[in-house]
Amino acid sequence: MARPTSPLRLALFALYSFYLSLAHAVSSSDAQKPSSEGRGYSLGEPIPVSCLNRTVETGEHITDASGALQYIPFPVCAETSRPLELAFGIESSLNCTIPYISDPFFHLLEFYIHNDAPLTCRIPSKPLPPSVLEQDFRSADETTQEGALGTQSSLYTPLVVALAGTLQLSHLHVGNDLNLLVHARPKSEGPGIVDAATAYSIASHARNARVTIGDELSLHFSVRWYPSTTLPPGWSGYGGHVYKSTFLYCLLSAGASAAICVAYFRGVELPRRLKRYATDRVGRGGGYGLPVANGMSNGYGGYGYGIGTGKKD
Ligand SMILES: *[C@@H]1O[C@H](CO)[C@@H](O)[C@H](O)[C@H]1NC(C)=O
Ligand SMILES: *[C@@H]1O[C@H](CO)[C@@H](O)[C@H](O)[C@H]1NC(C)=O
Repeated sequence: MARPTSPLRLALFALYSFYLSLAHAVSSSDAQKPSSEGRGYSLGEPIPVSCLNRTVETGEHITDASGALQYIPFPVCAETSRPLELAFGIESSLNCTIPYISDPFFHLLEFYIHNDAPLTCRIPSKPLPPSVLEQDFRSADETTQEGALGTQSSLYTPLVVALAGTLQLSHLHVGNDLNLLVHARPKSEGPGIVDAATAYSIASHARNARVTIGDELSLHFSVRWYPSTTLPPGWSGYGGHVYKSTFLYCLLSAGASAAICVAYFRGVELPRRLKRYATDRVGRGGGYGLPVANGMSNGYGGYGYGIGTGKKD
């Protein structure tokens, strides 16, 4: 029993195919133009962080047989069960707890904090082309290595983590509150491309984690993104947040000075004027003079014409 095709069904079908073609048009206009440059990141796309592998003995970076530096994934974070990842364009508070500080990792931390070696990491400036992803880390680096530390490879942006802290005999203090700043290329020049990145511990003494071998290390990243390579001006003075209280202060001081004026007038000025008025009345034999204006008071005073300045002459 074939159902008859009703006009309503036809209309719905037409609407549906129109919607499909619209959706397709939108999505294809959204996609980056395929080019040899490759596409940029889309908003929120994960960006893997990898760091230089170093020897535990000296902190020296490790190179493979061909002399290329070896980058290995950032330690796995307990929060995600994956190595640290940034999300393109997402400002967030990112936690990465390294669940277990192994003996070698502890010694590397000592190198970083003692500034014997930097914690040198890097992120792909844009999604890596499949040709790079298909290879393993070692051979990928061979093809992408250019210049010292591989920082001149256009595929990667260096992300050096300036880890602060203090060394003790048996343990160390790690400044585990970090700012992580990422600059994206201006959208007009190339959307979804990372141009610069850095990270640094906020305060080595006030906020840090005491760790030793076998402990966990909890890193807190405040991630901030900038839509260009210039930093926006940030300093508006220490009083940036005091505007409301400044206004209140103005209001209060205006009120206070008004109160002082009233008090002065009532307590000092008014009695003085009253007194002057009274002495005027007594001393001058009850003139009509108002105490407000001297000229007027003299003009019409009880002996006004007597004292006059020569009107009589
Ligand atoms: C880092 O280098 C050390 C020493 O060569 C090596 O044992 C270790 O496997 C390397 N790490 C990774 C993740 O490849
Ligand atoms: C990160 O860790 C801090 C301190 O443990 C916690 O207060 C904060 O809520 C965590 N943030 C996220 C996004 O999990």
